[in-house]
Amino acid sequence: MTTRSATPDSGPDAKVVSVVIENGHALVTIDNPPVNPLSVSVRRGLMEAVKLVNEAGCKTAAIVCAGRTFVAGGDISEFAGPPPLPHLPDVLDTIEASATPFIAVMHGTVLGGGLELALSCAWRIADDKTKFGLPEVNLGLIPGAGGTQRLPRVIGLERAARMAANGKPVNAATFKEFGGLDLVFSGDPMQALASFRETLPARPTNTSLRTVEDADLTALKAEITKSAKGSNAPMIALETTALAARLSFADGSKIERQTHLDLRQSAQSRALRRLFFANRAVTRPDRLKAFEPAAIKHVAIVGGGLMGAGIAAASLAAGHRITLLERDTASAEAGHARVEAIIAKDLASGRIAEAQAAARRAAFFAGTDYTAAGDADIAIEAVFEDPDVKRAVFKQLSDVMSETALIATNTSYLDPNLISQGMPGPGRFLGLHFFSPANIMKLVEVVGTSVTTDQTMSTAFAFARGLGKIPVETGVCDGFIGNRILSAYRRQADYMVADGASPYDVDKAMRGLGMPMGPYELQDLTGLQISWANRKRQLAAGTWPGRYVDIADKLCELGRQGRGSPARKGWYDHSETAGQPDPEVEAMVAAYRSEHGTGQQAFTAEEIVMRIMAAIVNEANLILEEGIATSDTAIDIVWTEGYGFPKHLGGPMFWAEETGMERVREAFAAVEAQSPGSWKAAGVFKS
Ligand code: NAI
Repeated sequence: MTTRSATPDSGPDAKVVSVVIENGHALVTIDNPPVNPLSVSVRRGLMEAVKLVNEAGCKTAAIVCAGRTFVAGGDISEFAGPPPLPHLPDVLDTIEASATPFIAVMHGTVLGGGLELALSCAWRIADDKTKFGLPEVNLGLIPGAGGTQRLPRVIGLERAARMAANGKPVNAATFKEFGGLDLVFSGDPMQALASFRETLPARPTNTSLRTVEDADLTALKAEITKSAKGSNAPMIALETTALAARLSFADGSKIERQTHLDLRQSAQSRALRRLFFANRAVTRPDRLKAFEPAAIKHVAIVGGGLMGAGIAAASLAAGHRITLLERDTASAEAGHARVEAIIAKDLASGRIAEAQAAARRAAFFAGTDYTAAGDADIAIEAVFEDPDVKRAVFKQLSDVMSETALIATNTSYLDPNLISQGMPGPGRFLGLHFFSPANIMKLVEVVGTSVTTDQTMSTAFAFARGLGKIPVETGVCDGFIGNRILSAYRRQADYMVADGASPYDVDKAMRGLGMPMGPYELQDLTGLQISWANRKRQLAAGTWPGRYVDIADKLCELGRQGRGSPARKGWYDHSETAGQPDPEVEAMVAAYRSEHGTGQQAFTAEEIVMRIMAAIVNEANLILEEGIATSDTAIDIVWTEGYGFPKHLGGPMFWAEETGMERVREAFAAVEAQSPGSWKAAGVFKS
């Protein structure tokens, strides 16, 4: 047996790629933690490995990866500059052309460059839990090392185009059915490799030399245009894959590579990559790294309504034991039924198996007795948005829980300091603001009070990450980061409706920007009552900032509180068909205008977008200046993850930079002139 390191024996690249030769067969191991990305050291090591196995005249060479996964992609930290040599396409061409044929032996997530590497091998075998995909489009890119050209030569044009364009992984069984795998195994990969080698099939034609049958991609194009929502990489990935049916591998790959390199510079890809990196930094604040999070096993949730049930379902999915507390038995039963409905839906859709559903049901209890929460490690209240009700719940929880256990409020707008004031163990109280539906939406705002300890924050962050969420730290203000910006967004939208724009045109304009829905459609979906209650609170406290448009209040008074309200009406009429513009609303808008002598202004779609975005960017900058958000990227993550702001536009702060602050400043000046005295200008907007 010969063991050789294909990368240097010492230094940062030491033994990233090693080669062991036994009985004429080579095992090439990539060990580049955590996910074996194809960094320059791996690329160099693979080049060297090809040389070594050919010099030794090996019959086969298998590529395996140490750790939890086969190569999970390229090294995106290299994407900002020109890629250092050797380039991946050359490495892969060398592997494919090697006289010693290569076998990819895979487990984990074989993504992007990892899949491209596998496609350059003569054979591919994989553990049955392996996933395969080309997720480059999620970063605004397309594959850059032959992925769009080799994949159709292996699994056919339509399937390859779909995988490249939607970025979603497929499982091993599916990929085998597509013809992407020679063998799927379960258990020891070395044993599977040994038996595969024993009955080795004849070496197939090199992938790049195969031809691809053309296919009609019209339906797929329509599907991708719809799902891409303004992101341009998916359609480019599709079109580039389609070249495989018309061009040679060499010509197609050249275009793919150039397109990939061009896209690296594009604003959309820069936006998506910035969010990708920011996500890691924001969800693991440096400040908290010194504090080991406490273990969470038992989670108490108070309030089994819309939010409580969703939080319970998310916590059950993460393997926690859940006690759901309600105000009376009937409400506890209703809460239980809500959680059960989520489990049943996950089961019916195939998202979870029967055994998982059974485990979740077994870990779930709903009742009214607080002593059941006595040994909970964290409690989250999601009762009515009323400070007195919330304080009473916090008090009851404090009475039964240990002083080291965390107690959190899911309040949308209230100050967690006031909810927890005067209670024992003040450092363990905080806000954990989930988004609806809480079992699906990833964003969680983590709100420290003035005395929340870093230990509590560290545990809360780890708990949220454990639920698969994206926790973002926010300071205390009305609405925290997300809803405070939302209030500014709605305010400016209302001002334009008051002054002459139709709410339906405002929605259309914001959809034109790439928002999944406009502000009025969103209100109808989430219900008008929480923000109505909040406006009343602000008016009573005298904290409403400036001009007040009361059309939404009038809708609420008429029982038009959105799609879910008994009237099935809000800004739109949903009673027959969802989302019908309603003459009754238009009449109410007209009545408001005639009463206030407004409505004479006309706004183009561009003006609507620019003014709303200027109001959003102003509020975002105020939030930053006041230290409510720790960074501009934290704000962008909140708005892309929680409010549907298109990720390829990077979030409001990135959008402002790309649009040019001069233009945004001009739009903000128009916003101020439209409603004098209604806006506090952020430092960046002061003249
Ligand atoms: P909901 O009205 O659907 O549910 C509230 C639940 O709390 C009800 O089941 C009620 O029976 C229960 N409850 C009331 N008083 C209680 C008490 N003293 N003890 C135990 N249970 C009690 O309300 P939703 O929408 O779930 O909101 C709950 C909280 O979450 C509010 O603070 C809200 O502002 C916040 N929130 C709501 C979001 C939304 O989109 N609906 C989003 C994020 C936060």
